[in-house]
Amino acid sequence: MAALFEPFQIRGLSLKNRVCVSPMSQYAATDGYANDWHFAHLSRFALGGCGLVFTEATGVLAEGRRTHGDLGLWHDSHIAELQRITTFIKSQGSAVGVQLAHAGRKASERRPWHGETPVDAEDSQLRNENPWPAMGPTTQPYGDGWPSPKMMTESDIQTVIAAFGSAAKRADEAGFDMIEVYAAHGFLLHQFYSPLNNDRDDRWGGDFEGRTKLALDVASSIREHWPDDKPLSFRISATDWLDDGWTIEDSVRLARALKSRGVDIIDCSSGGLGGPYPAPRFPIGPAFQAELAAAVREGADMPTMAVGFIWQPEVANVVIESGQADLVALARELLSDPNWALHAASKLDVDTNFSMWAPAFGWWLNKRKRVLQKLGLGE
Ligand SMILES: Cc1cc2nc3c(=O)[nH]c(=O)nc-3n(C[C@H](O)[C@H](O)[C@H](O)COP(=O)(O)O)c2cc1C
Repeated sequence: MAALFEPFQIRGLSLKNRVCVSPMSQYAATDGYANDWHFAHLSRFALGGCGLVFTEATGVLAEGRRTHGDLGLWHDSHIAELQRITTFIKSQGSAVGVQLAHAGRKASERRPWHGETPVDAEDSQLRNENPWPAMGPTTQPYGDGWPSPKMMTESDIQTVIAAFGSAAKRADEAGFDMIEVYAAHGFLLHQFYSPLNNDRDDRWGGDFEGRTKLALDVASSIREHWPDDKPLSFRISATDWLDDGWTIEDSVRLARALKSRGVDIIDCSSGGLGGPYPAPRFPIGPAFQAELAAAVREGADMPTMAVGFIWQPEVANVVIESGQADLVALARELLSDPNWALHAASKLDVDTNFSMWAPAFGWWLNKRKRVLQKLGLGE
């Protein structure tokens, strides 16, 4: 059996394979509520055989959303529609996770196809979407042309920590199997732990302990509200790829500390900090971030997830087989082919007769295959 299709156990959760749907914002929610778009988008990946399906970044507070279209879990009324989605995904034998997020100074941003620039009066006119004030560890803006965020006070920080805990409780009620905290790509927690972005001189800044305190306290707050048998993941930017920025050694140290707060797995992405720095130097290529997952896995002695530019089944399989990571997460390739996991199972000779497909699809595809073979037209 190819390693990619070996089951994986993490706390009380059993995954049928190692293929995960990486969080992908759809910018399609209204006031944080999921709708039919999210149901259709996420369900495709369960039908497509992925072991674990993550939602997109889901705001723990309305003001912590990145865009007006983000999903949210800051109110009990968000639970019902998400529950419809988790129920269906689980009925197909896949597990389902939610990515909990706070955008910090990156909040109040336009959707990508509206420019990925700050929301302003034009959006109010065109879409009835108004800007709102963002906050972060610093008053440094996210980028040129962005407003200065409010420097968060002790009480703002405590509100965010409590909000992650409350959202975790709602995530449990909504039927999610796993939580991933979005602590990467210039979102709030990354803004705090990166030395380039955190210029505070209170207990939430300064040295490594100060800068990582928010991530650790968020983990503890979630664990207070999230069942013991359900796993908790953190997505980190394992390096800023910038001089004087966050490094892979910092990530190993953070992973160890997160583990002591009840975090089970580290999803290793990178970059995305924003700010007045040169473009990060990414060594982009197939599975280019898997080496970061490998370093954290070895250094912190805990499971990891590899993500980024993984699209060939053979490459995904090697990442697992070679012990670089325990899970792989795919995003864009799954948009292109939501049945990627099922096709990968066929390519890796794990499923040669469509037996892993839902019978309503697989029965027909297998029958067609046999007919084509008989006619000398199939493989
Ligand atoms: C449409 C889209 C939306 C995304 N939204 C999120 C998100 O909400 N949270 C997140 O952590 N990453 C997000 N990402 C990044 C992906 O999860 C993934 O890390 C990245 O696309 C690299 O993987 P890939 O090469 O398989 O696409 C998004 C990517 C895409 C393409």
